[in-house]
Amino acid sequence: MPLYLIEHLEPRVYPWCKLEYAHVSSVVGKQNILFTNTKSSALKKFGKTEAKSVKKLLLDNACVLDPEAKETLTPAIAKKYDTFIFGGILGDYPPRKRTQEEVKLSRPRYNLGKEQMSTDTAVIVTHNIINGTPLDKMQFQDGIEIEIKKGESIQLPYRYLLSNGKPLLPKGLVELLKKRKRF
Ligand SMILES: C[S@@+](CC[C@H](N)C(=O)[O-])C[C@H]1O[C@@H](n2cnc3c(N)ncnc32)[C@H](O)[C@@H]1O
Repeated sequence: MPLYLIEHLEPRVYPWCKLEYAHVSSVVGKQNILFTNTKSSALKKFGKTEAKSVKKLLLDNACVLDPEAKETLTPAIAKKYDTFIFGGILGDYPPRKRTQEEVKLSRPRYNLGKEQMSTDTAVIVTHNIINGTPLDKMQFQDGIEIEIKKGESIQLPYRYLLSNGKPLLPKGLVELLKKRKRF
């Protein structure tokens, strides 16, 4: 089974991060996830954790998923790797290119298209590619709007995977957005 390695790069494990990590864990399985660069015990229920940064770990057959990479991940390319590395970064707009800057590794890098996805979306899309579905056979929506109260909504300017025609979001995200204005 492939390992999905998420290098946590936010200063804290924010509630939004937890929802994304719980989402990933429910789709790819807790036993297939490693969170690096974190001492948070709260993440143990979603996967294994490691205090060291991925930069300090020796990993065979590992690649980085980065929107700035030149080559796109395909099912054939994915077969060459055992470990897929992601930035545990909340989306920002315009993108700050933190994956490129902060997951500085001399490892092969691949994109999942040029649009910025949330970390959970990127992991689930990679999981689908590993399981044989190429990117162009998946459906996406660029940007979603969530109504938080009557007449007020939040725009999330990221690419989301569609499942049965609806954006696939972490369970509890809409409720979190409705409860809080700042994250
Ligand atoms: C919200 S994105 C962070 C992008 C961030 N704004 C940046 O500047 O790199 C979180 C992670 O999801 C993965 N990701 C998101 N969109 C991607 C894409 N289009 N191609 C490859 N990886 C992507 C990357 O591993 C990235 O570190």
